[in-house]
Amino acid sequence: MKARHFLTLKDISQETIDYLLKLATRIKKNKFLCKDLLQGKSIGMLFDKHSTRTRLSFEAGINQLGGNSIYLDSKNMQLSRGETIEDTARVLSRYLEGLIIRTFSHQTVKDFASNSSIPVINGLTDSYHPCQVLSDLFTLFELGLLKKGLKFTYIGDSNNVTSSLIIGLSKLGLDITVGCPAEYEPKEEAVKIFDKQSRSSGSRLNILNDPYQAVKEADVIYTDVWVSMGDKDSRKKFEALQMYQINKKLLSYASGSVKVMHCLPAHRGQEITSEVMDGANSVVWQQAENRLHAQKALLVYIYSR
Ligand code: CP
Repeated sequence: MKARHFLTLKDISQETIDYLLKLATRIKKNKFLCKDLLQGKSIGMLFDKHSTRTRLSFEAGINQLGGNSIYLDSKNMQLSRGETIEDTARVLSRYLEGLIIRTFSHQTVKDFASNSSIPVINGLTDSYHPCQVLSDLFTLFELGLLKKGLKFTYIGDSNNVTSSLIIGLSKLGLDITVGCPAEYEPKEEAVKIFDKQSRSSGSRLNILNDPYQAVKEADVIYTDVWVSMGDKDSRKKFEALQMYQINKKLLSYASGSVKVMHCLPAHRGQEITSEVMDGANSVVWQQAENRLHAQKALLVYIYSR
């Protein structure tokens, strides 16, 4: 049987997302659901970049499902001395029952997956962050917001999270507005996937350069750091993004009950003020917790067959 990979949200159907959201709800209520599912299984975690949430939520989740996680620091592997990703995939497939990979190029994850006989999960690449967005969809579902008519606005730098949000929301037929400077608009590849998916789902993507217009009457405002891991700091970029900070003034243009989301880590005082992040509209801690429950649901989906 072909291994079930999870490289982007494109890989799973709307029905599978619905199933995962319901399963995550049950798992959140009962930490011990499927507690022996991964017994005797070892899942590797190959990380080329820093992580707090992705690493810890997967390690805790694998442990709660009865499995064993093995953290692999690529700097200490032969990969860093020239062994190819293809050869590494062939070898790891003989020791492990799965691999979670966080790296720079999305092509690396694709190359690993196409040479692997074990399931591969994308724990973030420069292009996509599907595990983050799967759990964000769960947070929206829990809040009762994941339905037609949702006004969802992403504000700031259009990065890997933005691309995954565009794919995830459009797969469910929901609209997304991106408020960003003209030079930091969503990546072409994600817009192409949106174009294809929206033909059947009917979803709309609005890209607006005016942040106040973008958040007008929004039910959800989502942001992320202005400089993603691996990007270089640039004064020009910071200057262009100043007016896209989530602060009290910007929030006042949104719906009164607007929910504020941030995938974390945050740079308080840059893309979001502490006042908003710690304020009554913020759901960032619920959002962070849900990484654990949504990813456990993903593991149950991958390994229950
Ligand atoms: N949001 C997220 O992926 O957090 P980490 O970088 O800490 O894993």
